[in-house]
Amino acid sequence: MEDLAMQLPVDPSIKPEVEAFFDPATNTISYVVKDPDSNACAVIDSVMDIDYAAGRITYEHADKIIKHIEDNGLKLEWLIETHVHADHLSAAPYIQQKLGGKIGIGEKITVVQDTFGKVFNEGTEFQRDGSQFDRLFKDGDTYRIGGMDVVALHTPGHTPACMTHVVGDAAFVGDTLFMPDGGSARADFPGGDAGTLYDSIQRVLSLPEDTRLFMCHDYGPNGRDIQWETTVREEKEHNIHVGRGKTKEDFVKFRTERDATLAMPRLIIPSLQVNMRAGEMPPADKDGKTFLKVPVNTL
Ligand SMILES: [Fe+2]
Repeated sequence: MEDLAMQLPVDPSIKPEVEAFFDPATNTISYVVKDPDSNACAVIDSVMDIDYAAGRITYEHADKIIKHIEDNGLKLEWLIETHVHADHLSAAPYIQQKLGGKIGIGEKITVVQDTFGKVFNEGTEFQRDGSQFDRLFKDGDTYRIGGMDVVALHTPGHTPACMTHVVGDAAFVGDTLFMPDGGSARADFPGGDAGTLYDSIQRVLSLPEDTRLFMCHDYGPNGRDIQWETTVREEKEHNIHVGRGKTKEDFVKFRTERDATLAMPRLIIPSLQVNMRAGEMPPADKDGKTFLKVPVNTL
């Protein structure tokens, strides 16, 4: 396979410092990615806490990230969403309000907004042009964290807007891949596609073999401890869904059959309404009260 790094402005000799923050309520891993040569950093995939039964939101997880950034005197430049998450709510606007930085996501957010704008019967005041975000990334777009170049790769399949962010010897894959013993994420959400996901995974696996890969989720399969970091080499050799010898046909068949058995994620309804607005709640009603909708028999 062609070596993707040859085509990208990525320098594997740059080794960003990565601090992980695991959220046990949603099995999400948020990251603070720091430039080793400056105090600049980015936050990838933050989490807002929600007690869905009570309709209550809090910020313990985000506050840990904020404290880490403040304690270390870091400057927050970016808040990156690898995709529109369906299993947790983003805390990007909360962190942005405290520390600054720009919120970025893939440009195909517009497809997701169009789909779920309809599902939630949003009015015309809900813009479907991605304008809630500060930056929309096209495939191959670059941006900087301090002195480091980051490349955003469009890696759809799990959702239409999924991106993998590559910086130095590290790549943040979102839900494109799980740890080798976890395999891959589902591809049955609206706009998802198992064949497309397989192709996106091959793209990630064409990065240099020593590239550190950072997952967005881990569920500790077979009782092992939670892990979030692996390498391209490990995934190529051992990934149970796409590793050595697995064809695209094998993958599509397996993924499609497996997805048909999966229940909706517990937090999909609140997550989509908030995350398609870059982490903001829907606008308050005329009495200043905020509500989330539950569409009946739609999802
Ligand atoms: Fe996801």
